[in-house]
Amino acid sequence: ASTNYVNIMEVGPRDGLQNEKKAIPPATKIELINKLANAGLTRIEAGSFVSPKWIPQMAGTVEVITQVEHLPGVRYPVLVPNVKGLENLLSVLSEHSTSSSPPPTDEVAVFIAATDAFSKANTNCTIVESLERTNQVVRLALEKGLRVRGYLSVVIACPYSGPVDYRKVRDLTKELLDMGCYEVSLGDTTGVGNPHSISEMLNTVISTNSVGKLAGHFHDTYGMGVANVMTALAAGIRTIDSSVGGLGGCPYSPGATGNVATEDVLYALKGSPYTASGDLNKIANIGMWISNEVGRENSSRVGKALHAR
Ligand code: HMG
Ligand code: MG
Repeated sequence: ASTNYVNIMEVGPRDGLQNEKKAIPPATKIELINKLANAGLTRIEAGSFVSPKWIPQMAGTVEVITQVEHLPGVRYPVLVPNVKGLENLLSVLSEHSTSSSPPPTDEVAVFIAATDAFSKANTNCTIVESLERTNQVVRLALEKGLRVRGYLSVVIACPYSGPVDYRKVRDLTKELLDMGCYEVSLGDTTGVGNPHSISEMLNTVISTNSVGKLAGHFHDTYGMGVANVMTALAAGIRTIDSSVGGLGGCPYSPGATGNVATEDVLYALKGSPYTASGDLNKIANIGMWISNEVGRENSSRVGKALHAR
């Protein structure tokens, strides 16, 4: 890649909070998103239009996306699993279309997995069925003028079926790009990858897909998050998904912890040739605040270190 600017996709309000058992009031999520935007983050995943039976914590997403501050230059994407979810979003958008304020969102994210076992656990269908379902969502979303991001889960290993063939990851990435996703985020959902396996996986994926259209999505279960981010940057990737305070975990990925912490990524880039927007100290404070709000220990080592000073 020609630029050293690293795009941070903040996924804390969605990936970070979706797994919390205790209901978090929409007001807290709205405050979180507003704080993150005011700390200089420009892409903040705000929630999901998934089945509330599957993910009860995301049920308040309509309130969240209609009530956040909507700073100019900031995007607030939401996850959408099927046409039903997209239709729910579209009706929110059309109700809002007469208002003079900015639309609640202009971007959706679709998600598939590299193994049938994970696909079934997460979305109740096989990979082949999910491609069909996702294709319908992407077509309708593009037709309605929305940007569409793609996620591919379990790119290193599946919690149910073990090691993943990176050629499968390569081919499914291409499917998502061919559908019209502007970017595909490669998810090490369980966080088992290390710089070696991430690098091997990326080499395979980049052999047939443009590196400029890829993002790295690393969970920090084994403490490899920052190392894997640096590996992805070295491979030419310039978009990194992270969550403030290292919040999170996937409900269908037992034992996996949250994403690499946003403040850890920003600290790792300090003084390097890479730049990123986002105020490290403000974000570290937000990580401390939201960890308290959800009653968890802050998972960010950088957040804890800065707080102790
Ligand atoms: P299903 O049960 O097969 O769906 O679930 P269904 O079509 O049979 O519908 C069942 C019920 O849900 C029906 O209600 C539908 O109306 C309703 P009932 O008639 O029983 O009252 N329903 C919906 N309600 C609201 N919004 C919708 C919706 N769709 C159906 N969109 C489905 C299939 C895909 C819906 C379900 O499996 C689901 O919602 N899965 C989402 C799981 C999820 O959100 N996982 C976490 C996000 S992915 C992730 O975290 C990984 C990532 O971070 C990257 C990484 O780390 O790898 C992105
Ligand atoms: Mg994730």
